[in-house]
Amino acid sequence: MLNPIKLSRKNFLSSLDTSCEEFLHILELAKNFKNKNLNIKLKEKVLGLIFDKSSTRTRVSFQVAMSRIGGTTVDLNPTTSQIGRGEPIRDTARVLSRYCDVLAIRTFKQTDLEEYAEWSSKPVINALTDLEHPCQALADFMTIKEEFLDFKNVILTFIGDGNNVANSLILCGALLGVEVRIACPKGYEPNDLVIKRAKKIYKDKNLLKISNDPITAVKGANVLYTDVWASMGEESQKEQKDKDFLGFTIDQNLVSNADKDAIILHCLPAYRSKEITNDVIESEKSRIFEQAENRMHVQQALLACLLS
Ligand code: CP
Ligand code: NVA
Repeated sequence: MLNPIKLSRKNFLSSLDTSCEEFLHILELAKNFKNKNLNIKLKEKVLGLIFDKSSTRTRVSFQVAMSRIGGTTVDLNPTTSQIGRGEPIRDTARVLSRYCDVLAIRTFKQTDLEEYAEWSSKPVINALTDLEHPCQALADFMTIKEEFLDFKNVILTFIGDGNNVANSLILCGALLGVEVRIACPKGYEPNDLVIKRAKKIYKDKNLLKISNDPITAVKGANVLYTDVWASMGEESQKEQKDKDFLGFTIDQNLVSNADKDAIILHCLPAYRSKEITNDVIESEKSRIFEQAENRMHVQQALLACLLS
């Protein structure tokens, strides 16, 4: 029977917190959890959820993942805890890590997440920051692997904002040696440091391509991926971004320029007819709801590793 492995890092704050081997092991465990081939029980373990931003998938998939491995969760947010009153992160982290066995945190700044991790005696998981969404990327690559069986020759094209989701896809792509193309409007490129880190991992392979041309970027692509144009916390930029992102919608025309067997991914929630059309979401090429389901399986696997 496949067993969880102890990860080399205590925390999962970034897509680069696992090695390629650890990442693949988590995907393998997740597949076995999904196929009900694993019966790992982590009785009485408690996951603390701290969500400074809204969530449907991440919150519920963590709650269900934890209950499936025999544990429980507590869910905190700024309005029902002292976090909103401004209690210092270092105090919250020290207290909650005495009650809980692991913490999953959704917040704005990556540096705040890192501060939680620094003061927590227990593992901390990034449940989304402005910089990264590494649990999402685990599910994304699980979904890609289900479709194409391995990552050889897979070309992943992300159309839209160079945001947290794009950053994590880039880092995972580098880790796995997958060609990643990003097509975004000028000025909305992914984080510079993320690009630099990814290029260092890719070494001399020219597999990370950033452009402002969606049509060229999707040529021969096997996976088309998009996300909202204005992320949580960017509500005031919505109107401007709607104008700047015209031409960056995944529609049937763009899909017809990709590989004929290409699949469509979106982390959700989606704004239909902005970053993606309704017919593409509902098309037979869409794996969007499998992808959402896989959040639960990869997080079950991640928790099993972090708690083992
Ligand atoms: N994809 C994702 O993280 O969704 P939620 O914001 O609903 O958690
Ligand atoms: N980029 C989006 C992802 C939501 C899951 C956001 O940060 O709001």
